[in-house]
Amino acid sequence: MNNHLTISSYAGKYDIRMCDDIPRALKHAVSGPVHILADRYIWKNYRGQFRDLPNVRTTHILDAVEKNKTLDRAVTYVKFLLGQGIRKNHTILVAGGGQIQDIGSFAAHILLRGVPWVFVPTTLLAMADSCIGSKSALNVGKYKNQVGAFWPPSHVLIFPKFCKTLPESAVRDGKGEILKHALIGGGSTFKRLTGLLPKIPKNQTALTRIIIESLLIKKQIIEKDEFDRDTRKILNYGHTFGHALEGYTHTAVAHGTAVTIGMDMANFISVRRGLLPQKEFDMISTVLHGNIPYDTLPVRSIPLYMKYLSRDKKMTGDTVTALLCRGIGRVVQVPLKLDKQLAGDIDDYRKYYRRQRKLNL
Ligand SMILES: NC(=O)c1ccc[n+]([C@@H]2O[C@H](COP(=O)([O-])OP(=O)(O)OC[C@H]3O[C@@H](n4cnc5c(N)ncnc54)[C@H](O)[C@@H]3O)[C@@H](O)[C@H]2O)c1
Ligand SMILES: [Zn+2]
Repeated sequence: MNNHLTISSYAGKYDIRMCDDIPRALKHAVSGPVHILADRYIWKNYRGQFRDLPNVRTTHILDAVEKNKTLDRAVTYVKFLLGQGIRKNHTILVAGGGQIQDIGSFAAHILLRGVPWVFVPTTLLAMADSCIGSKSALNVGKYKNQVGAFWPPSHVLIFPKFCKTLPESAVRDGKGEILKHALIGGGSTFKRLTGLLPKIPKNQTALTRIIIESLLIKKQIIEKDEFDRDTRKILNYGHTFGHALEGYTHTAVAHGTAVTIGMDMANFISVRRGLLPQKEFDMISTVLHGNIPYDTLPVRSIPLYMKYLSRDKKMTGDTVTALLCRGIGRVVQVPLKLDKQLAGDIDDYRKYYRRQRKLNL
């Protein structure tokens, strides 16, 4: 399998490279004056990998915490770079996970109407998912992810080695999105990816392969609909029910777990609506439950969960546009009324989940 792929975007083509030798790859990909924006953990633990970069003008370190992923923080960074004399021919080198990516790519987009940026993703989620697709999303006050832009990087350099230090929850976050791509991708992709999944992040060969395959599935979708007008919406699979679960539990259930449960729930409802055969549901559900920590509690209050569901961005009136599943490789958009029937289905899912996890609740 090729260790390199190219993405076509409205702003031109950009390439993704899987690399071993960090200093060497950086030297090749980045030229001219550079401004580094890095995750504090990465800077503390991997700083030496960036030492050979010539012509570094500024270095800015940020904590990857949700309260930093704001429009204000991005504007502060923009002001800092302007104060340091950034020019259109400079490059911003962003090293971190999705949060640092969101701040860096948004700042690069609004500065001088677009400064090139190079991305070094350091989490599994950023490597296998967010590094392509051009999107950024920032919080403004209480509004989460409501400000953003489409500004692709000029290069993405992936060093799977960074995954060695990821905490288990961050690995699960990445696996949640990989499972989503696997289910969207179709039968043989699903088989291959789910076969490799238990081997990562330890096995570097499996890890490299999974990252490339996951990106190849997303590539096919974003190249058809970069601006999220139609086809790209299927990447929200598992997210409608997942976000409501994150809200309901005040993020005690982490994103990757919530998306995994969200897909299982969407599939359960798909069976109820006659879209997905029970046998296929059972097979997929067994795989999905492998990415849910043993002690994750189910939803208890259905009315409260429905309230969180009704806050979804894709609501019109009393109907949400949900992503349901007709089979592996066949995720479809379906309008779902937030009515008694749906509440009943979710309650039945709660009972199913409880039995599946053998939880006595
Ligand atoms: N722009 C997009 O397309 C897009 C897509 C999906 C998610 N996101 C955003 O990404 C964010 C989640 O990003 P994420 O899951 O990549 O992680 P993150 O950026 O939130 O970082 C999670 C934690 O991992 C640490 N970390 C980073 N790399 C590490 C490493 N190699 N070893 C050990 N620790 C490391 C960070 O310091 C942080 O504590 C959310 O804010 C989400 O909204 C953006
Ligand atoms: Zn997600």
